[in-house]
Amino acid sequence: MTKPEEGIAKFDLHSEDIAEARRQELLRLFPEVHTESGGINFEALRLALGDAVQVGPEGFGMSWPGKAECAKTIQRQSVATLLPVEEESVNWDTTQNVTIEGDNLEVLKVLQKAYLGKVKMIYIDPPYNTGNDFIYPDNYTESLETYLQYTGQVDGEGRKFSTNTEASGRFHSKWLNMMYPRLAVSRDLLAADGILFVSIDDSEYPRLIALLNEIYGEENFIGTMIIEGTPKNDPRILSTAHEYCVCYAKDFRIAGATDYGVQNQAFSELQRIFENHKEDEHKLRSELDRFLADLPEDQANVKNYKYFDRKGVFRTGPIDDPQGSGAKDKRLNPLTGNPCKTPNAGWRCNKETWDEWVAQELVWFPENDDQLPAKKTYATSSRREPLRAFQKIQSRKTTQYLKNLFATEVSIFPNPKPSELMDLLVELVTEPNSSEEVIILDFFAGSGSMADVCLRKNFAKQTKIKTISIQLPEVIDPEKSSSARDRRRAEVAISFLSSLNRAPTISEILKERLRRVANSVGDGFRSFKLGESNFAVWDTSAIEGDQLKLEQQLFAQVEHVLPGRTSRDILFELMLKSRYELTTPVEAVKVGKCEVWKVDGGEMIAVIDSGLTIEVIREIAGWKPASVVILDRCFGADDSLKANARKIFEDSKVDLKTV
Ligand SMILES: C[S@@+](CC[C@H](N)C(=O)[O-])C[C@H]1O[C@@H](n2cnc3c(N)ncnc32)[C@H](O)[C@@H]1O
Repeated sequence: MTKPEEGIAKFDLHSEDIAEARRQELLRLFPEVHTESGGINFEALRLALGDAVQVGPEGFGMSWPGKAECAKTIQRQSVATLLPVEEESVNWDTTQNVTIEGDNLEVLKVLQKAYLGKVKMIYIDPPYNTGNDFIYPDNYTESLETYLQYTGQVDGEGRKFSTNTEASGRFHSKWLNMMYPRLAVSRDLLAADGILFVSIDDSEYPRLIALLNEIYGEENFIGTMIIEGTPKNDPRILSTAHEYCVCYAKDFRIAGATDYGVQNQAFSELQRIFENHKEDEHKLRSELDRFLADLPEDQANVKNYKYFDRKGVFRTGPIDDPQGSGAKDKRLNPLTGNPCKTPNAGWRCNKETWDEWVAQELVWFPENDDQLPAKKTYATSSRREPLRAFQKIQSRKTTQYLKNLFATEVSIFPNPKPSELMDLLVELVTEPNSSEEVIILDFFAGSGSMADVCLRKNFAKQTKIKTISIQLPEVIDPEKSSSARDRRRAEVAISFLSSLNRAPTISEILKERLRRVANSVGDGFRSFKLGESNFAVWDTSAIEGDQLKLEQQLFAQVEHVLPGRTSRDILFELMLKSRYELTTPVEAVKVGKCEVWKVDGGEMIAVIDSGLTIEVIREIAGWKPASVVILDRCFGADDSLKANARKIFEDSKVDLKTV
């Protein structure tokens, strides 16, 4: 007799196997290094790489205590999941934004399958390591377990998160051990043309660059932005008022060929001046002159826009052929009625194009026949140019904005990133009115400055940004404040959140901020929380040599869904691990007495609860979904139902998995 489940594949509950994915990538590039058993022949790889192989101890790179352990941390697969929290969300059914409460390393691993290679921009503002500004798990290899203890989801055994202080020794190593796995795992999420921005200051700038050169490759370093803001309190020797924003490309060759750009605000201003004064030529002249005179030297290209006509402000450029071999036919100056002076190099364009330019008023004509005509370029605000690496940005406006948004007496979050800066970064990778969907990820989200700007931009500029914000439920603690002002902020934050019946954590500030922004621009977000898998998963790494844990796991297999978990919890785990994004549409339909989940309009079907019959199976097969996942428990003790399911789906060429 064949066992009913024979031939039915088991659903894989683990996150992406990162090491395996890399091995496969290498084998794809070098098929000749394949060994018979599917491994890599290093000798063959060496041959394939020829002279580029370095043998011996000449290696160049950074090392620090704990680095080897980081590599293991990166490779360790996650069995965690993200639990949907519909009641905390806004416009659940329609939104494309996501907030995730949890430790970002574990969350990034859980996101690997669904978001691999899909993210256009990652922006992070990690702890700068300036004293006690970051908390890290004492044992960072047990990320999920430590996290669950931190958030009180399981009983603690003394493992805890603590802050990093200079006194704790290995100050920089701890920061590196925290950052390295997170930067490495997140890089896989970037699209081929994706870019990364990291805010940082002098404390860890050198190490951040070394780390990113290692993870991204030096050739993918785009540059460092310098953000000048408010001078720091109490300067010694150097008075600094700046910090950095470091930029890397996943692949510089691809990103460099992409049309990334921002509008130069000076062009928008030129347009504004024109619109305001176009009826009064004198006023327009004086306003324009004043504006151009006040522009800084590095805006020399804008200073050339010193002319205007009834269409707008423009600059002039040569109309002769750069190669010196243009046609020299006679062309008319409509102002004088005579032929124009012909350039020595000949005309820049043929007669046909010239006529088009003239019709569009793109040629400037002199009133004097001895002068050459010129080509006009109008100042349009849609012109895109590279983002300037030096930016003067005041954060005060954002602090004031937050205070108003929450209607609190002080801003409840210290140092939110300036909206102006976030806006520039977002503008670089998006285009107004474009139908292209762009995923932007911030995995040290804090109060959510990046997502806030994206929601507003979608509203104002018709962009299609999908945001993912990950934030630890870090408890707001007035005792940890380094100044009286920050202590006050923390106290006000706690009483503000408590008045809304929310926990006193930073992730609650994030969600409340997005709730308010979403309400004002008609958008929303789906809220998720990091948690253990819904299923009792065999975690072999956790039980090596541990008899007690082995017994616990065996026991757990009897009812293998965790108590208290809902069908929706389970559905999202199945979706994530089947590579569906967190904002995919889901719908529960009744087939007979059975609740059947349709994911993405029915592309994937999931059956999680009771009521499964042969009729339900036939009906689902008739929909021809790409895949079906059925929980083992839905078959009950009915072996023949499982055998029939296998046969029916096989005949309909539908991929069936059980879990
Ligand atoms: C500098 S703040 C970010 C501020 C944010 N850019 C803003 O404008 O509001 C860094 C945040 O990262 C959070 N964080 C630190 N470690 C984390 C981790 N392992 N996972 C998720 N968030 C973390 C901290 O709680 C802190 O709120």
